[in-house]
Amino acid sequence: MKAHLLSTADLDREGALQILDTAQELARVADMPIKKMPTLRGRTVVNLFFEDSTRTRISFEAAAKRLSADVINFAAKGSSVSKGESLKDTALTLAAMGADAVVIRHSMSGAPHQLAHADWMDAHVINAGDGTHEHPTQALLDAFTLRNHLADHISAPKQGSVGLDGLHVAIVGDVLHSRVARSNVHLLNTLGAKVTVVAPPTLMPLHNDGWPCEVSYDLDAVLPQVDAVMMLRVQRERMEGGFFPSEREYSQRYGLDERRAALLPDHAVVMHPGPMNRGLEIASRVADSDRSLIIDQVRNGVSVRMAVLYLLLGGNESALSEVNA
Ligand code: NCD
Repeated sequence: MKAHLLSTADLDREGALQILDTAQELARVADMPIKKMPTLRGRTVVNLFFEDSTRTRISFEAAAKRLSADVINFAAKGSSVSKGESLKDTALTLAAMGADAVVIRHSMSGAPHQLAHADWMDAHVINAGDGTHEHPTQALLDAFTLRNHLADHISAPKQGSVGLDGLHVAIVGDVLHSRVARSNVHLLNTLGAKVTVVAPPTLMPLHNDGWPCEVSYDLDAVLPQVDAVMMLRVQRERMEGGFFPSEREYSQRYGLDERRAALLPDHAVVMHPGPMNRGLEIASRVADSDRSLIIDQVRNGVSVRMAVLYLLLGGNESALSEVNA
């Protein structure tokens, strides 16, 4: 694995599968009576969150602790120092404290890249969501969840580990503001899945020409063709002005309600990265239905983040040999 995890576009198929396979092994730790392995004892992981987060921050904290790392939580939101300076000063502080890995969430797209490449510190940088840009561990945990739940619908590769070959995944909603969408489009494509993004024209990025996916504005037409549908949160905090006439109209045209969910093939699954706007992009009865993998996504997030920390901070052998030790 490279020194940092900044973008899913940096991962080739082999690298992505190495993370998923390691996560699969590490998931066994969650089933053990003592959910801990000694691998990262004496290493320090800093959670540097300049933006709100519930599940991602807790998930990284649980992952680091299960590997016995020391965890420092740094909620940097609210700093009045200008952003570039504050990031540099913070990085110098973290370096002085001996941080081995820094998990960063920032409202500015590119902040994790700056931290990784500016020569302010030596720590490994993991992007936990930067602006509207990328959220690679979310895409990895989504891929992990799809691989586990749709195993019967994935084509076996000619060689190597199973990916997501043959699956068709729809990503639906506020694509324009979603770092989850971009990270998923790249990773799903790398792992062999076909992707269709569905959004109202005002929430479809104008320059997504380079994205390896199909584009549709008609959710009802897409749903019968897919194995999985990923609903995106409407990101009100990143919207200035009206991107759609009313919430009611958005929900009528692009919300996943029960009628629409019934258009999916029987085996198809429903996902959402959370936090959900229940009743807007997804109806409660769909979010809580049997096809929903939303809670599985959260659970799998810990194993996937353990795998990323394990591989970045030097675990070369099979993770399982340590679990069994
Ligand atoms: C996502 C995020 O923060 O980008 N949430 C998450 O990490 N679980 C999606 C979102 O906020 O809509």
